[in-house]
Amino acid sequence: MTSVQTLTLRYPDDWHLHLRDGDALPAVVPHTAQRFARAIVMPNLKPPVTTTEQALAYRSRILAAVPHGAAFTPLMTLYLTDDTTADEIRRARDSGIVYGVKLYPAGATTHSDAGVTHVRHAYAALEAMQQAGLPLLVHGEATDPDVDVFDRETVFIERTLAPLMKDFPGLKIVLEHITTADAAAFVREGGELLGATVTPQHILMNRNALFQGGIRPHHYCLPVLKRERHRQAIMDVLAEGHARFFLGTDSAPHPRGAKESACGCAGIYSAHAALELYAEAFEAAGALQHLEAFASLNGPRFYGLPENEGTLTLVRDPWEVPQAYPLGGDTVVPLRAGTHIAWRLK
Ligand code: NCD
Ligand code: ZN
Repeated sequence: MTSVQTLTLRYPDDWHLHLRDGDALPAVVPHTAQRFARAIVMPNLKPPVTTTEQALAYRSRILAAVPHGAAFTPLMTLYLTDDTTADEIRRARDSGIVYGVKLYPAGATTHSDAGVTHVRHAYAALEAMQQAGLPLLVHGEATDPDVDVFDRETVFIERTLAPLMKDFPGLKIVLEHITTADAAAFVREGGELLGATVTPQHILMNRNALFQGGIRPHHYCLPVLKRERHRQAIMDVLAEGHARFFLGTDSAPHPRGAKESACGCAGIYSAHAALELYAEAFEAAGALQHLEAFASLNGPRFYGLPENEGTLTLVRDPWEVPQAYPLGGDTVVPLRAGTHIAWRLK
């Protein structure tokens, strides 16, 4: 049997991305701009992007880092807090540059300390979002310290997400970076207003990758990698070609020293090879025929945006990922550093 040598897709988008700020931008924006026409840019800066005014300024700084000749549109988001007002939501909608509002349960992940302490504090903002048609993007992990770290997504769905969906039946929601069979089933069985993003790491690796011959800080992200049966369940839904699951890398650069530390940060950098990594995962599952919808069609449909013009081609031509890329004055260790990836951008 001969295998496919080239893959041509309608130009894709990344529906979950961390670009950071300052001198990190010129280091990471080009990787994304080479592969994606648009990206949902997460607002977990320090301090977070909580207003439309801040989002506009951040957008300009991102655009200044787009390489000459590349066409890349950042889709901005606001960081939901206990104090987000309905007025701020309406300003965001009217701006035309804000595409979602991110719910970080306080304490759930990197730069989430300003997040929502209890969803009831955000009800005025959620009501305004439902009316404005602005999607809620959810980091779905329970933060109660009594909950086992591997159960946090499942517990969040039961205790927080399901009740919230009852209270806001008209709110569009994306459950971000899903990691469990439970989340995959919940979204699959959900209605038209519920979608999910999937990262490359959660379909390429299971939790063994965290402890392969020793502790592997560069495989640590949140939600943390789960058991093989969860990886398999997520890949199964993607291999069905389900329309409400779409590409969101969660590429999250941290300086090497912040990862290789006694208390290492959560976040995996994948922007350098994002589409190539998804192609490997889909190929391994015999599902390459569904890659284009996942990468290029399902996201725009869910967000109510047009599909991109033009196409992008991957060729089968293995290449070795560098050990590190520059990140401002520091370096970032990318996913699969020092190993080969089967697909290359044409
Ligand atoms: C992200 C980051 O570093 O900003 N980290 C991560 O492990 N995914 C935050 C997030 O999306 O949870
Ligand atoms: Zn993220």
